[in-house]
Amino acid sequence: MGSTIEVKRIAGALGAEIAGVDLSQKLSDDTVGEIRQALHDNLVIFFRDEHLTPGQHLAFGRYFGELQVHDFVEGMDDNQEILEVRKEEWETRNFGGGWHSDVSYLERPALGSILYAREVPEVGGDTMFANQYLAYDSLSAGLKQTLDGLVAVHSARRPYGLDAPRARARAKSSMQFNFSNSANAETEHPVVRTHAATGKKSLYVNGNFTIRFKDMTEAESAPLLNYLYQQAARPEFTCRFRWEKGSIAFWDNRCTQHNAINDYNGQRRVMHRVTIEGERPV
Ligand code: SIN
Repeated sequence: MGSTIEVKRIAGALGAEIAGVDLSQKLSDDTVGEIRQALHDNLVIFFRDEHLTPGQHLAFGRYFGELQVHDFVEGMDDNQEILEVRKEEWETRNFGGGWHSDVSYLERPALGSILYAREVPEVGGDTMFANQYLAYDSLSAGLKQTLDGLVAVHSARRPYGLDAPRARARAKSSMQFNFSNSANAETEHPVVRTHAATGKKSLYVNGNFTIRFKDMTEAESAPLLNYLYQQAARPEFTCRFRWEKGSIAFWDNRCTQHNAINDYNGQRRVMHRVTIEGERPV
């Protein structure tokens, strides 16, 4: 069987552009299988010049699993499964800034997210991605051994708790956040997780949601966590995607981190995100 999609790598560490498929159409099982394989091989895949209605965006996401609704950010009025990631000309804070993997504070964090560009700035607003298999593989044998037995505690409290900087600032925002005490809930995940499909190990801690190691204080955990955060985002483990209207990025949230670069004050950026339910990290 010949392949229907073309896959072109964009960086040494991860990332590929996919051509030869129109995501607004119903996809065959073979095409979905090829897209899934491209995701596993490249960790984040990109599509250009797609024209999707919200319904078609949701349908594309559902080929890969159930969709999640965000606990702390309102989705679109007519469909909570679409998160509108918006920054207006008058705003200075963005959503998704700082290296992270999505919703790692959940017991079952996202398998992946599919972000569709509706309106992009003239310049700026790129998104960076980092390969967490490489982040783990390139550690020393000794540190790997230490990390293999460690558990990390994750929580949504920093961005979505009542004390979150955005909550305290009380600044007007084009996105609606539901700051709450329930963001203080804690979830434990292994520091090194094994990918359910590829069987490969990756580093699974991130600066937005990881709070500390289990059975240690935040102060005790901070030095090693900070080392791991800078390891996670080493330039040679990353790629950077320049958005155009109609572009899509589909990342595997289990083995990557991403960072929405906030360098476009004074310009509007509007994206739609569909988030696919994942499994409990092991
Ligand atoms: C996100 O973290 O989901 C947002 C990424 C982006 O806007 O580039």
